[in-house]
Amino acid sequence: RIAELIEARTPVAAWPAEWFEVVDNIHRADVLLGTPQAPGVALAAALARGWQALLDEVKQSNLRGRGGAGYQTGRKWELCREAPGNTPDNTHYVVCNADEGEPGTFKDRVLLSRYADSLFEGMTIAGFAIGARQGFVYLRGEYRYLLEPLQAVLQRRREANLLGAAIQGREGFDFDIDIHVGAGAYVCGEESALIESLEGKRGTPRIRPPYPVEHGYLDEPTIVNNVETYCAVTHIAVHGAAWWAGIGTPKSTGTKIHSVSGDCERPGIYEYPYGTRIGRILEDCGARDTQAVQVGGPSGVCLSAFEFGRRIAFEDVPTAGAFMVFDRSRDMFEVARNFAQFFAHESCGFCTPCRVGTALVVKRMDKLAAGQGSRHDVDVLFELDKLMHTATHCGLGGAACNPLRDTIAKFRPAYEQRLTSLYFEPAFSLDAELS
Ligand code: NAI
Repeated sequence: RIAELIEARTPVAAWPAEWFEVVDNIHRADVLLGTPQAPGVALAAALARGWQALLDEVKQSNLRGRGGAGYQTGRKWELCREAPGNTPDNTHYVVCNADEGEPGTFKDRVLLSRYADSLFEGMTIAGFAIGARQGFVYLRGEYRYLLEPLQAVLQRRREANLLGAAIQGREGFDFDIDIHVGAGAYVCGEESALIESLEGKRGTPRIRPPYPVEHGYLDEPTIVNNVETYCAVTHIAVHGAAWWAGIGTPKSTGTKIHSVSGDCERPGIYEYPYGTRIGRILEDCGARDTQAVQVGGPSGVCLSAFEFGRRIAFEDVPTAGAFMVFDRSRDMFEVARNFAQFFAHESCGFCTPCRVGTALVVKRMDKLAAGQGSRHDVDVLFELDKLMHTATHCGLGGAACNPLRDTIAKFRPAYEQRLTSLYFEPAFSLDAELS
């Protein structure tokens, strides 16, 4: 319900307060969602270590990016610190990706509304580690209502000398944070499109490499990390790498926050150590008769009941945070069709394989839904998936067919019952399709 509301961009005033309560109340592992640290505690610990020891600590903790891809945070920061500037300004930047746009994901909203100090503190620590003077939060357009409260927190931190010049009396450590509000484009969650948008341009993804750590905002070395990653850093600064690495699995350390939604009694925000089984989360959220779980949102993976013993971990089921539960009353074909419509709507239109490919997928899915499809249409969908995987400019097009591929493989009857014709049809030809 919450995800639907966010997608519908309903003005915040119209949202009943109790819906927030349902979402915000629940948590298990008391780390990121535990009692907030007092402002300044983590920063003081980081400053006391010195930037080199701090970098080493983050590396040893094996903290990996919470945006979904899991790149090692310490490594990213080190590469950025070492990168020479590319302009006469020769400065480095810290960027927080708060463009939480993946359907089914709403955990960053909770961190932003309840743990903003932790986020800003994590960014300040990052600024200290990489030698930056400026940070930006790229805030999802639909979260504009959080702008004022976030700015109030920033102001409070400036007054406490946790931001600004000579932070906590340390000469030469100047750092401040600005908030940039997006305009509601999903593709701007892709880090290089986000940087383009920050620079005031259209949010079109750049070709990577070079990665932002070398050529980022205004062509200067830049780290882009997720909200949850910065919050995690504050805990590592206080409790140390060994403590953090002792939670989770060796390859996926610490905890992960999940946005649980769909067919369950207790949807909400759940924090678990990495290595937790899907089945455990389903049990805790009161899911019954579950047919499928979409982990990581439409660009993630769709798991069927056979896979509920799998674990949330980068080495098994990685996720940016969405955990969408579907019980047996749901038609998985319609779920996939809904996701296909989402990708077609959000394709930025820059490259042809994605712009046309996502539209063709919707067309074929609609044909199947209308009961006019055949085996041939399913073959075409597979071809389009292959084509987009190899030819699109950025990850959006590459991921657009993930739900389709998963649901065809795991819920085949949902497709087969729609095939009305088994007659021979000519093999798929992209030329014919485009004409
Ligand atoms: P990626 O693996 O290309 O990069 C991940 C991070 O590591 C980036 O910050 C990138 O700059 C950095 N990086 C990677 N290789 C590097 C290198 N050699 N040197 C320096 N830095 C390097 O992943 P990408 O394309 O940024 O994101 C894809 C992921 O995003 C997918 O795993 C998907 O699950 C997730 N995703 C998350 C969404 C969300 O709402 N959080 C939405 C859609 C996808």
